Amino acid sequence: TLPAEGKITWKAPSNIALVKYWGKKKDQIPANPSISFTLDACATTTTVSFSKKEDTESFSFDVIFEGNRKDEFKPKILTFFERIEAYVPFLRTYHFNIETSNSFPHSSGIASSASGMAALSLCLMDIEKQMNAGMSEDFFKRKASFLARLGSGSACRSIEGDLIQWGGHEKIAGSSDLYGIKYPHEVNPVFKNFHDTILLVHKGEKQVSSTAGHNLMHGHPFATERFAQAHDNLDRLEHIFRDGDLKQFIKIVESEALTLHAMMMTSMPYFILMKPDTLHIIHKIWKFRESTKTPICFTLDAGANVHVLYPESVKEKAIQFIQNELVVHCENGHYICDRIGNGARRL
Ligand code: PMV
Repeated sequence: TLPAEGKITWKAPSNIALVKYWGKKKDQIPANPSISFTLDACATTTTVSFSKKEDTESFSFDVIFEGNRKDEFKPKILTFFERIEAYVPFLRTYHFNIETSNSFPHSSGIASSASGMAALSLCLMDIEKQMNAGMSEDFFKRKASFLARLGSGSACRSIEGDLIQWGGHEKIAGSSDLYGIKYPHEVNPVFKNFHDTILLVHKGEKQVSSTAGHNLMHGHPFATERFAQAHDNLDRLEHIFRDGDLKQFIKIVESEALTLHAMMMTSMPYFILMKPDTLHIIHKIWKFRESTKTPICFTLDAGANVHVLYPESVKEKAIQFIQNELVVHCENGHYICDRIGNGARRL
């Protein structure tokens, strides 16, 4: 039976891809498999209040972002509702009040679509669960990931922690194009408390939306090779994760970041999303790693900000280096200390 009304809150984290998802097919199916660290500090908290309405003809919802009504967010959520409606039967039954806020500052250049779509999907699944008390935890999470994917591809990797794989891969049992799964192979404890310090190099709006970016992979001259490379890198990560081989890990992670940007530089139209400070940071990381043998590396998403990754064991050294040498390259000196996290939770 359908409850008349209710209120649910979920907090979902962001994630940072190690092997990048870049390129998609119809219905948010990824062109290649990807894997990510779930983050902890960077998160979206969403409260959905729902009440039965008179008609069941149309969608009805309001969006409140950090205390203010945000009608400009509605089209994105409407598209999401249209995509998931076949799987969420009660969407037209209720009026939804969607209140959402991010733990990271406005326009920090950190995408909130992954954490935001994950949090909203979890709230919707929670309503579904109220109608189906026998629903298993596994089904709940898998379907939340499935729905989140339809909001924003990478959002399907923001339901659980701490290492999440998405996209069918022949050697990863249970992997699927439809939802993220916990990485099923052995992971060395070295990767357990990994840190991600996010350097906010450029806080402006993204130059290329991820939708536009994914589309640039259609007819891209290097697409076939790139998609094969992602499969290959996931393959190689199996031993790297098991053995705790940081040297090889760094090679794959940095190569993936640069390849993502290379795809954008070699598409038509072409884009350079790095800023001079992005490059200064990369060079300084390389120099520091070389001279001190500290296993610290970078990754990038589709923008100028730099994610600096390092294991717990070198935390003091890494933070000192970041503060002394890298923070000068951040806009207004802003950076966020984050770490690998355990996934979303109900509040
Ligand atoms: O989830 P989307 O459609 O915003 O795509 C995100 C793509 C990257 O962040 C660049 C890579 C990734 O795998 O997260």
